Amino acid sequence: MAIKKKTPAQTFHVPGISAEDSTTIVTALQDRLFAYTDLHLVLKHAHWNVVGANFIGVHEMLDPQVEAVRGFADVVAERIATLGGTPIGTPGALVAARSWDDYAIGKDTAQAHLGALDLVYTGVIEDNRSVIERIGDLDPITEDMVIGQTGDLEQFHWFVRAHLENNGGQLATRGAQTEIQAANAAREPQKGAAKKAVRTKKS
Ligand SMILES: [Fe+2]
Repeated sequence: MAIKKKTPAQTFHVPGISAEDSTTIVTALQDRLFAYTDLHLVLKHAHWNVVGANFIGVHEMLDPQVEAVRGFADVVAERIATLGGTPIGTPGALVAARSWDDYAIGKDTAQAHLGALDLVYTGVIEDNRSVIERIGDLDPITEDMVIGQTGDLEQFHWFVRAHLENNGGQLATRGAQTEIQAANAAREPQKGAAKKAVRTKKS
């Protein structure tokens, strides 16, 4: 994901990092700041709008993820400032810069939200790994920070995916390209599982 607006000029650099490398790192971190800010708002939105069976489990599962990701945003913003950059945290700048659409699910079932969140986490984690790849040789301290955050995000992603996995280990959302597709696909296996259970009982 590229930032559409130019990153503000840096006033200083930490010792041992060139101006050019510092700009590269700060630009990558600003991208993560937008992604984390978007993610913790989306997770809270899902926390508020999940309904139906498994409501309380999913509702309560999401709040610690909101808090953790909000903490990641704070750590990233302060790393940008430490590197001499200017962290941008305003909603308008986020919307102007992001390359992804707004979260597509409103009030809906737990499975629908979990299906959509599978894709949301996939996007954030893929971009994090890309950042790790790009900045690893420039600044191992920033790399270490993003690696730690990515490990936690991957665990949260597993919490989501565990609800979408069948007993053969397949994800209901496999092949889905959009949040709407993923949400719809996540609802389907329940129907399939019910039919299979009936057939098994008769034979
Ligand atoms: Fe709440």
